[in-house]
Amino acid sequence: MAKRDTIFYCQNCGHESAKWMGQCPGCKEWNTFIEEKSIASKTSKGSTGQSRQQDIVPAALSEVTVSDSERISAGITELDRVLGGGIVPGSLILVGGDPGIGKSTLLLQVCRNLAVSQREILYISGEESLQQIKIRANRIGKFSDTLKLLCETNLATIETIIRKRMPQAVIIDSIQTMYSEEISSAPGSVSQVRESTALLLQLAKGLGIAIFIVGHVTKEGTVAGPRVLEHMVDTVLYFEGDRHAAYRILRAVKNRFGSTNEIGVFEMRSAGLAEVPNPSEYMLSGKPEGASGSVVACSLEGTRPILIEIQALVYQSNFGIPRRQATGTDTNRLNLLMAVLEKRLGMQMAASDAYVNLAGGMKIAEPAIDLGIVMAIASSFKNRVVDDKMIVFGEVGLSGEVRSVSLPALRVQEAAKLGFTACVLPQVCIAACTEGGKDWNGMKLIGVRTVRDAVDLI
Ligand code: TYD
Ligand code: MG
Repeated sequence: MAKRDTIFYCQNCGHESAKWMGQCPGCKEWNTFIEEKSIASKTSKGSTGQSRQQDIVPAALSEVTVSDSERISAGITELDRVLGGGIVPGSLILVGGDPGIGKSTLLLQVCRNLAVSQREILYISGEESLQQIKIRANRIGKFSDTLKLLCETNLATIETIIRKRMPQAVIIDSIQTMYSEEISSAPGSVSQVRESTALLLQLAKGLGIAIFIVGHVTKEGTVAGPRVLEHMVDTVLYFEGDRHAAYRILRAVKNRFGSTNEIGVFEMRSAGLAEVPNPSEYMLSGKPEGASGSVVACSLEGTRPILIEIQALVYQSNFGIPRRQATGTDTNRLNLLMAVLEKRLGMQMAASDAYVNLAGGMKIAEPAIDLGIVMAIASSFKNRVVDDKMIVFGEVGLSGEVRSVSLPALRVQEAAKLGFTACVLPQVCIAACTEGGKDWNGMKLIGVRTVRDAVDLI
């Protein structure tokens, strides 16, 4: 029987199937299967000769040398931080994000910074013409001539040019527009994206060139194409932000050369992306004074504390089923925290609508903001103001206990830096914050054991 040479791929998640299916068993999306030529495995057996196999000697760890000085600074502190200290030569970095969020702008700015030190940088665009790139570049500033631009989508041509010119860094904007002639399916399809990335990976590792790939995201917010894409590359960065706010957050969701929790904060200006070195100050600008239901909480993103205003509005519902809505945090978490308040403190909120909003459009999943949410709800419910110069952090458990959080001293330090004078924190964290007799500019540390202790402060 002839060997089957086509296979069906889900264009959403990359699930493979021998026959067409209406619904993908992998991601449960409908009508996503497309027939594509199956990719014959390139590594044929026995290609490495007997003599070569004998030459290979495994290395001991002590024989391997690494130096951090090899990292190249991108010239943007926020980006360097997210990458774990700079760009590692030979790494493949995927940058994902919604259309228009600023991926091309960020990478063009990286190109500009890298090119000033006489390094050759290659910016390959499959989406925009040279003129369009020029218009964007004009907004950003002056560029050195060592930055070369290329409008090309054929990977074979791109490979030849990279091998000939040997640049230090290459930008591919975007992977969904690239195609290899060996594969018959359209650019952007699962097999094209996968093959293109595999080729770029070989180039990056083989030639020691750092390659940035721009990837589009699906409506669910993951990089379009197969999940394997994220497994293949060294680093996955997501560029996210609120459409209506000017700031953007760059987040590492995978990083083989650094921590994955780090974030970089940027602001989109008329002359490109500007770094926001102090996000807390930025997030708190516009906080109302003396308003009930407003509390400043502290969340940790990587090693970086961010102060954020939590707003709550609790109001008697006009309908049978009260509305509960959380923006920027999990609505289920909100329900849980309200249940704790009802049960442990006897606050009657069953007939009240409750809305919680993290001001500025930030999204935070860290449980350390629990106590902030609880205090904001209580403040709104009692219609009593929380001290404007007070910050709050701590995780809340189901029995109403306030549990410890990581790195409390770092959070207190950030609050002290921004002129806050009091801090409500878990009692167990007090010792870590007063270690060595630190007094944080005279900040008052208020340790709480239960939610009741905290709510009594309002
Ligand atoms: P872009 O980098 O093209 O987004 P992506 O590549 O992620 O699709 O971002 C374009 C947006 O940014 C566009 O809406 C215009 C805006 N922008 C500025 O506000 N200032 C600038 O200096 C530049 C270059 C773009
Ligand atoms: Mg773009």
